[in-house]
Amino acid sequence: MSTHIFKGEGGDGPGGVFIFWEAGRRQALEQAVLEAERLAIMGQLSAIALHEVRNPLSAVKGFLQILRRELEDVRQLEYVEVMLEAMDRVNNLITDYLRLAKPCIPERRHCCLEELLRDLLSLYEVEIKNKGINLLFSCPADIPEVSLDREQFHEVVVNILKNAAQATPSGGEIEVGIELREEADSVSLFVRDTGPGIPEDVLSQVFEPFFTTREQGTGLGLYVCREIVINHGGEICVANNPERGCTVTVTIPCRE
Ligand SMILES: Nc1ncnc2c1ncn2[C@@H]1O[C@H](COP(=O)(O)OP(=O)(O)O)[C@@H](O)[C@H]1O
Ligand SMILES: [Mg+2]
Repeated sequence: MSTHIFKGEGGDGPGGVFIFWEAGRRQALEQAVLEAERLAIMGQLSAIALHEVRNPLSAVKGFLQILRRELEDVRQLEYVEVMLEAMDRVNNLITDYLRLAKPCIPERRHCCLEELLRDLLSLYEVEIKNKGINLLFSCPADIPEVSLDREQFHEVVVNILKNAAQATPSGGEIEVGIELREEADSVSLFVRDTGPGIPEDVLSQVFEPFFTTREQGTGLGLYVCREIVINHGGEICVANNPERGCTVTVTIPCRE
């Protein structure tokens, strides 16, 4: 509350104004800022802590690998395998979490999507073909440049591609392509696979953090993808193909 005292024009006796205002909103805002700061610090601390957990973890993993070579007892070997698998799981979780904890503001630059995809596919081509999967890439001419954070988009495509490669059996096919959506002034890229597809009842959950159906999965891949794409003003969707497998489509506006 604030008060002001004043006199009338003819020198009449003093009057006053009381102004009351509701401070609840400002207090709530201040609380929210404090809470956001606290969460940011927690996020940084857990990223540091998890990073530190990695070092002892790799030591344990290294010695387990040596043990695996030296053990002859089948049962003991089995135990070591289980431990190594658990190590990998924790390691994957830490990798995905650390990616998630990184600041997400995209540093956008004009970039040729075709070039980005060709570079990326050349990195993963051998691995995918070694699994007996046929990899196709198609891109029409005259696709305009888009403004995006190369590193973040690289991650989006790698996550989607990895999922496709994990789902597709040997003899299957993965098709990666770019399409221009002139009507919406946007460009989309798609990854289509011939795996089992996604059961309709879990389709709506695949972007939720920690949702996974894979034993070695962390359930963070598609969540991270969606965060990045939304930060670019774009959209990501997953749909089952009419025949088999599924298609993940990422659409980004040509203009920021
Ligand atoms: N190409 C795909 N084919 C079939 N299922 C998929 C595909 N991509 C994603 N999924 C489903 O979505 C889930 C979540 O994917 P993701 O967020 O990348 O986590 P993760 O790969 O660690 O399981 C997967 O566990 C799987 O059930
Ligand atoms: Mg994944």
